[in-house]
This record gives sequence, C-alpha cells and structure tokens, in this order.
Amino acid sequence: MDTIDVAVIPGDGVGEEVTAEGVRVLEAAARLDGGFRFAFRTFPWSCAYYLEHGRMMPEDGLRTLADFAAIFLGAVGYPTVPDHISLWGLLLPIRRGFDQYVNLRPVELMPGVTSPLRDRESGSIRFVVIRENTEGEYSNSGGRLHTGTPYEVVVQNTVFTRMGTERIIRYAMELAERWPRRRITGATKSNGINHTMPFWDEVFRAEAERHPSLSAQLVHIDALCAFFVTRPDQFDVVVASNLFGDILTDLGAAIQGSIGVAASANLDPERRHPSMFEAVHGSAPDIAGQGIANPVGQIMSARLMLEHLGKPQLAEAVGQAVRATLAAGVRTRDLGGSATTREVGDAVVAALERGR
Ligand code: NAD
Ligand code: IPM
Ligand code: MN
Repeated sequence: MDTIDVAVIPGDGVGEEVTAEGVRVLEAAARLDGGFRFAFRTFPWSCAYYLEHGRMMPEDGLRTLADFAAIFLGAVGYPTVPDHISLWGLLLPIRRGFDQYVNLRPVELMPGVTSPLRDRESGSIRFVVIRENTEGEYSNSGGRLHTGTPYEVVVQNTVFTRMGTERIIRYAMELAERWPRRRITGATKSNGINHTMPFWDEVFRAEAERHPSLSAQLVHIDALCAFFVTRPDQFDVVVASNLFGDILTDLGAAIQGSIGVAASANLDPERRHPSMFEAVHGSAPDIAGQGIANPVGQIMSARLMLEHLGKPQLAEAVGQAVRATLAAGVRTRDLGGSATTREVGDAVVAALERGR
C-alpha cells in the first residue's frame, strides 16, 4: 500500500485542537479510499518550543520538512512571544523557503451557515482569492536607524519582482480559465502607490492579453473591499499582492460566516518542495484550550491537501461531508451552534463514512 508522509505542525493555541480533527478526517478519507495510508509525523515547533529552545524550530527545520509530501499546519503565534519573532521564525520561513508562492484561499458560503450579509443563500458566494505569498509588502527588507532618538528612521521596503508578479498573475488567470464565467479581478492601488502598483497593473494587463477568453478587471483595493460586501456574487478568481490578499481573505472569511471556516493552501505549483495547508485563522488565544474552536477551516484545508496530492474525489467527499455536517446543524459557537471542536470532527468523519 502507498504511504503518504505528512508533517503536522499544530503550532499554538487552537492550532492543536483543529489539526487533531483535520488529521482524523484525513485518516478517514484514506480508509475510505483503501489504496493508500497517511504516515503523520508531528513536530512541536511553536511559541512553547521557542521559550524552551530560543528558536521556533531547529536550525535544520526546513531540511527536515523537505522530505515530506505535504505540511499540515495549525496556527503560529501566541501572546508569550512577539508576533514578528514567532511568525518570522516558523510560518513565513516555510512559505518562503519552499517558494510556496501561491496562497490559494477559497471563499464559499456553505449550507447551514448564515452570512452577516443580508439575504445571501448558501452557494451564492463562491470564489477564490489567489494571494502572492513570498514577496511584496512582506519583503523582510528594511531597517531601523537611530532607534529611540528624535531622528529615528524606520523603513520597510515593498518588493515586487517581475518573476514574482508574473507567476502569481499567470497562475490566477490559468485558474480563472477553468471557472464557468471566466472572471479575473486584480486588486490594485495604483492611484496612491505610484511605483509597485502601476507595475502590477502593467503585468496584469499584459497577462490578460495572453488570456483573451477571460473577462479581466483591475479594481482598487479600497473599492474591492466594499464590493466583497455589496456584490460578492460577482467574483470568480481574485488575485492580490501579499498584504492585500491577507486582508481580503479575512474579509472573505467574515462573509463566509466565520473566520473559523476559511481554508488555505500555500502551494509550490512546480512541486519542487512540499506545499503547506492551514486554516486562514490564527491561534485564537481568547478561546484556546476550551475545545470550542471551529475545525471546519482546518478540515477544508485538508480537503485542499487531498486535491494537491492527486485525490480529487476524496477531496470532494470531504467537502460534501463538511457541508452535510453544517447543514445538519452541527456547528460551533462562532456559527451560533453549541457543538465542540471534537463533535464537529466526529460528525464530519461520520458523514464521510455514510457517503461511501
Ligand atoms: P485569530 O484568527 O487567531 O483570531 C481572531 C478572532 O477569530 C478571535 O476572536 C478568535 O477567537 C476567532 N477565531 C479564530 N479562529 C477561530 C476558530 N477556528 N473558531 C472560532 N473562532 C475562531 O487572529 P488574531 O487574534 O489576530 O491572532 C492571534 C495570533 O495568531 C497572533 O499571534 C497572530 O499573529 C497569529 N496568526 C497566525 C496565523 C497563522 O498561523 N496562519 C494566522 C493569523 C494570525
Ligand atoms: C495569515 C496570517 C499571516 C499572514 C501572519 C500570521 C503572518 O495572517 O496566514 O493570513 O499575514 O500571512
Ligand atoms: Mn491573515
């Protein structure tokens, strides 16, 4: 029987609670298939690990992860360690070190979930945000001079490379060609940001010419935020820079009914390195340890992992099991229900087994 090796990094806070359910669903999916098994290896890299070892992961952490078919990650960051240290010690080095340049984040209003947007039925919101994941506003380039003096200078450079910009926009447009309405929306801000964003627009327009079957439009990020609320039914694929995509996908999560249901995949489309799958939300310190976190975002990220691993039917089955669970009213508190994290995981596994 084939074995697929998956590295699990539960991380911090609710990360541990939701990855446990994701792993159970993946195991159930493999049982259902019968043709392969998952071998999970769990790594304790987290803020707790940092407090003990002075680093978020061992120095050779990336080399260790490189041998796995995929990485299943919970959340990184906790009030015990400054965020820029924890995130730049674990999550961001993996995304960047493995050149996971596509951050794919679906936005879907699922059955049994009420959107805060009035009169939106399940299925009426369904699009995907493609976020650039290795450069842009998260460049790690800059510095601080004359710290603490009246002359203090702080610089953070935004870096857009031609290769980085072209490849993310091209990926998004190729994806949009497979959507029924073939719509691609580019998030820009070329009115106020006068170097990087006009360059982004230029690349977007050039790529649009190479994909003539698409209906392509650039929308300023401020207006786009409003359109996510007022006309979310109009999007198929939205492509955005690193920071714009980050902000847009928490907004996307909100219109899906809860940050707890939003999924994400950090992909190396060329498959030179393992890709990483994680929910959009963070470690949720305010509810951690209570067993009430919504595991749906993490389970739907497991679904994206199955798709990436070449198991599209199993991925579809997991998606249907999650939708059936929510439609049956098994929901955590963030969705107005009273189910625990574990109960939602149980229900998804049961629905998956029923659906066989
Ligand atoms: P957060 O996403 O952790 O929490 C925001 C709000 O959403 C909180 O009220 C929380 O209770 C709620 N929430 C989040 N996940 C939920 C779930 N599964 N079920 C129910 N409710 C949920 O964002 P934050 O508070 O800004 O960040 C907390 C920490 O997580 C910070 O250290 C931050 O840097 C980190 N973070 C990590 C990731 C990641 O690892 N991918 C993503 C975002 C934030
Ligand atoms: C996310 C998170 C991360 C990001 C943070 C924790 C660095 O918000 O995955 O959306 O901004 O990419
Ligand atoms: Mn985010």
